[in-house]
Amino acid sequence: MCGIVGYVGKEKAAPILLDGLARLEYRGYDSAGVCVADGSELRVCKAKGRLQNLCGLCSDGETLPGKLGIGHTRWATHGEPNDINSHPHLSQNGKIALVHNGIIENYAELKAYLMKKGIHFVSDTDSEVVVQLLEYYYKRFDGDLMRAVYRVLATIEGAYALGIICADRPDEMIAARKDAPLLLGYGDGCSFIASDATAIIKYTREVSYMEDGEVAVLTADSIRVFDAHHEPIEKEHHTIDWEISAAEKGGYAHFMMKEIMEEPEAIRRTISPHVRDGKIFFEGLCLTQEMLREMSRLYIVACGSSYHVGMVCKYTFEKMLRIPVEVQLASEFRYCRPIVDDKTLVIIISQSGETLDTMAALREAKSLGARILSVVNVVGSSIARESDDVLYTWAGPEIAVATTKAYATQLILMDMIGLYFADLLQAIPKEAYSALVEELQTIPDKLERILDQKETIQYHASKYFNHSSVFFIGRNLDYALGLEGSLKLKEISYIHSESYASGELKHGTISLVEEGTLVLALSLYSPLLEKAVSNIVEVRSRGANVLALTTERDRKEISKNADGLIVVPDTMEMFLPSLGVLPLQLFAYYVALERGCDIDKPRNLAKSVTVE
Ligand code: AGP
Repeated sequence: MCGIVGYVGKEKAAPILLDGLARLEYRGYDSAGVCVADGSELRVCKAKGRLQNLCGLCSDGETLPGKLGIGHTRWATHGEPNDINSHPHLSQNGKIALVHNGIIENYAELKAYLMKKGIHFVSDTDSEVVVQLLEYYYKRFDGDLMRAVYRVLATIEGAYALGIICADRPDEMIAARKDAPLLLGYGDGCSFIASDATAIIKYTREVSYMEDGEVAVLTADSIRVFDAHHEPIEKEHHTIDWEISAAEKGGYAHFMMKEIMEEPEAIRRTISPHVRDGKIFFEGLCLTQEMLREMSRLYIVACGSSYHVGMVCKYTFEKMLRIPVEVQLASEFRYCRPIVDDKTLVIIISQSGETLDTMAALREAKSLGARILSVVNVVGSSIARESDDVLYTWAGPEIAVATTKAYATQLILMDMIGLYFADLLQAIPKEAYSALVEELQTIPDKLERILDQKETIQYHASKYFNHSSVFFIGRNLDYALGLEGSLKLKEISYIHSESYASGELKHGTISLVEEGTLVLALSLYSPLLEKAVSNIVEVRSRGANVLALTTERDRKEISKNADGLIVVPDTMEMFLPSLGVLPLQLFAYYVALERGCDIDKPRNLAKSVTVE
C-alpha cells in the first residue's frame, strides 16, 4: 500500500526521493508526490497516476532544489486518487509538510474542530487533518515543533507512519509510528526514513525499526529517537542482508517471472538451516514439547495466499497430528469470538509481516492467552516482533504483487513445522518421518524439472487466455491448491475464476458449466483419482474444456479424459501442493502476458495491505 521515503543529507533530495519511490512502486499506488525544503520554503510536486507523471512534472527532480525532503506513493482510501489528495500535504500556511501511511480514525471529528477554528482544508483525506493540527499546535506552542508533534500524536487515533518537515527547520525531518511500518536508515552524511528497506538499500544497509509510540528526529549527521514520553532511547541497529539485485528484475520482463524462477533456490534456503542428520530442528524456538503436548487446538490465521497455505495445512496437519486445526481469515478472526485460550497455539502466516488484519488477529489471539508462532518473510516486521516465536521463510524480497516464491516457501516451512510437531508428539512412525524428511529435500530439484517445461504451460495459456471464466476443481489437497491457483489467475489476468471442491459441483456449481467453459481439474492427490476422473467426465460431458494437472503416476489415467495435460514429478502426498502450485503460477503468468496485463502491478491491488 502507501509508501514513504524521506531524506536529509548533503545531496539534492528530490532525485533520491524519486528513486526511492520507484522502488516502492511494487507496494501498489495510484498517485505520488514529493516535498523538498528549498531554504525556508517548502516546494511540493505531486501527480495522479504512475510515478513517471511526477518525474515528468519535476524533470526527474532537477527542478526541485533542497537537501531535505519527503516522498510518498498513495493508495487511496479517503478521497479519490487525484493530485490534490496525493501526499505530501501542506498545512494552511505552507510551513509544515507531511506524508502519512495508515488511517486516522477520528479525522472527521478533528476536521470539524479545526474548521470551526477557521482552518481551511483542501483535500478529502484523513491525512490532511494531521498536518493542519500540527500547524495549529505549532502556533499555540510558539514554534515548539516537538511539543506540537507529541500533542498531535496524543490526539489522533488510528494507524500511522509519519514523515514531517517544517520550513523553519530546513535541516531536520521528524518521523513517528503507530501500527504502520517505518524504518530509519543511517547513511554516510545522510539519514533516511522509509516504509520498507527497498526504498533506501541503494544508499545504506544500516537501519533501525521504529516501534509504536516512538518519535525520531533526523539530521544529515544524526538520528535521535524518543519514546512516547519524549525520553531519549537507544535503538538497535540492523544490517539488511540482501543485495539490491534481489529487488531488481535482473533481465526478466517481470518480477513475477523472476520470482517464480527463484523458487527452487528460495526453498533450498528455507529448508537447509533446519535439516540435520535426517531430522528437522528449529533452534531458538521457545515452544517446548510440554507446551505442545498441552495444546488442545491449533489455529492458522492469515489473509489471501497466506491463508491458502493454511488451507493446505489443515489437511496435512490434521492427518499427521490428529489435533483439530482451524484455519481462519485474519479479517474474520477478531469478529467471530474465536475459541482461544492458553491451550491454543496460533500460527500466523504473513509474507510482509505487516498485514493489518493479520496483525490485529495476532493481538486478539494473544490477549486471549494463545501462544503465537509466526511464519514471516520480512525480517524485523511487526508480526515477527510481536510473536512469541517466529520462523522465517528465506524467499528474499518479493516485489511482484502476486505472491509466488513467498507462498512456496511458506508452504514448505509449514510442512517442516508439521513434521517437527509430529516428531515431538511422536505422532507418526519414525520410518515415515525419515522418509518425509528425505523427500522434503528433493523438492527444489523437482521444481527445477517443472520449470524446464514452462513452454508447455505457456502453450496451454496461449490456447485458453481468451476465456472469460475459469473453474478450478479438486478434492482434498487439490481443492486447497485450487484456491491459490484461482486467486493467482484472477488477480493478474482479471479473468473471473472460482475454485470448488469437486464434490460440491453437483450441489449447484455445475449449472455454470457450458460449452467451452475452461475447467482446470487438479488431480495430484492419488487416493481420490477415481473421483477426480468422474468429475472430469461430468464437466466434459457438459461441454467444458478440461486442462488437467496431475502426477507422472496418474498421467495415463487422466490423459484419457482431459483436453490438455500438465504433469509434475511424483512425490509424497504432503508435498504435492508444493509441486502443483508452480504450474498454476506459470499458467496465470502466461495468461496475463497474453492479455497484455500489468503483471507486477495489477489494478487496485497492493503488495502489503496495511489498512482494514
Ligand atoms: C496474493 O498474491 C496476494 N499478494 C495476497 O493475497 C497476500 O497473500 C495477502 O495480502 C497476505 O499478505 P501477507 O502474506 O503479506 O500477510
